[in-house]
Amino acid sequence: MSAIVGATTSRRSFLVGAAGLLATVRLPRASADSPKPARQFTLTAAKGRASLVGKAHPETDVWCYDGGVPGPLIRARQGEPIRIVVENSLGEDTTVHWHGIRLPIAMDGVPGISQPSIASGQRFTYEFTAPDAGTFWYHPHADSLQQLGRGMAGAFIVDEPQPIAVDRDVLWMLTDWRLTAEAQIASGFGNSMALARIMALRFEGHRPLIIAIDGQPCDPHVPDGGRLLLGPAMRVDFVLDMLGEPGGRYRVVDDFYDGLAYWLTKLAYDDKPPLRAHSLDPPLALPRNPLPEPDLTTAQRHELRLQGGMMGGGAMAGMGGMSNMSHAIWAINGSSMTGDGQTGMAPLLTLQLGRSYVLTLRNDTAWWHPMHLHGHSFRVLSRNGQSVPFWQGSDTVLVPPKEAVDIAFVADNPGDWMLHCHVTDHQVSGMMAVLRIA
Ligand code: C2O
Ligand code: CU
Repeated sequence: MSAIVGATTSRRSFLVGAAGLLATVRLPRASADSPKPARQFTLTAAKGRASLVGKAHPETDVWCYDGGVPGPLIRARQGEPIRIVVENSLGEDTTVHWHGIRLPIAMDGVPGISQPSIASGQRFTYEFTAPDAGTFWYHPHADSLQQLGRGMAGAFIVDEPQPIAVDRDVLWMLTDWRLTAEAQIASGFGNSMALARIMALRFEGHRPLIIAIDGQPCDPHVPDGGRLLLGPAMRVDFVLDMLGEPGGRYRVVDDFYDGLAYWLTKLAYDDKPPLRAHSLDPPLALPRNPLPEPDLTTAQRHELRLQGGMMGGGAMAGMGGMSNMSHAIWAINGSSMTGDGQTGMAPLLTLQLGRSYVLTLRNDTAWWHPMHLHGHSFRVLSRNGQSVPFWQGSDTVLVPPKEAVDIAFVADNPGDWMLHCHVTDHQVSGMMAVLRIA
């Protein structure tokens, strides 16, 4: 299962860490045309078949958007309205969540909390204007273990008005599949490795320069050890200077798990001489998005303890009185919201509209948790009390076992917003809560 990015010169790549190994080469950007009223898309959710492991193997039964895995790339422009009609032909309820896009609550796609779910045979029109340029993605927020696990997800790119100059713009959407010998999805969702893989990508002979995290531009930097660390739902925009030898092959290795390193793909150069003798020298910093900066002097602080798991570290005390606990394995501050969100469950915190907040996400468990907040992008302030070395915006932050991450944001978007681990298995079994902004 390898995907070759046959690149002579690729300057900017995008990675979406969702959980297979799929590479989509993005077409060149259309030249800037005049602004249009609303871009229209239709997405049809349905069961289908997709070739995941090549022609020598049978096709895989999947659930998908528009018949493909991943779903179609949706491209919008920053500050311009977009309308997406979702047709549900799945045979069960669904919704679509536009992960990372700051939009009104009614468009957030959480069934029972932000909208009624879309019944099979029905349609729902999502309309919003993305304030931020960047790499986002979309996926269902109903029956998530099945729907996301069986392939429903796609990339959503919001173009900045003035993109940086690169020779090629490539999108990688990385998904982890557990398949049988017949190339069918192995049963047993909830297996701790499915939809949970964390990747640490090393580029032999190359240095990835990160320019945005979760769609939010950051100070361009080479990550620690030159490795791109990606948990489920996380995205990184990076620039890769292709300075390898003509005809050269360079492996991209994922060595996150000790002793389980494998190569994901190879960067393959053709035999022609390089496009140019010297690398381009364009400004690589992307313009910041209009994200309000939290006021740290007046911010109210809260600690959120991530609890549970079967491997120890689980402080499950205080959960005795909870209803609907049958599948609760995980909790946040002793409270477990399960499934795709329970209506009528009290919010874990009520935040005041317009106020700044600092949340300490303290991981009491022995597992990694990519924690996602809906409706906002937050600033990652520190890890274990140590400031992060550069300005970093995010919507999904990876919290290692026994560590604490401080995040800050302005509660500027009214509504009931989900905060949950993006390991679907953890989400549906309790590591989820609602933050109410009123
Ligand atoms: Cu990708 Cu609740 O989100
Ligand atoms: Cu988790």
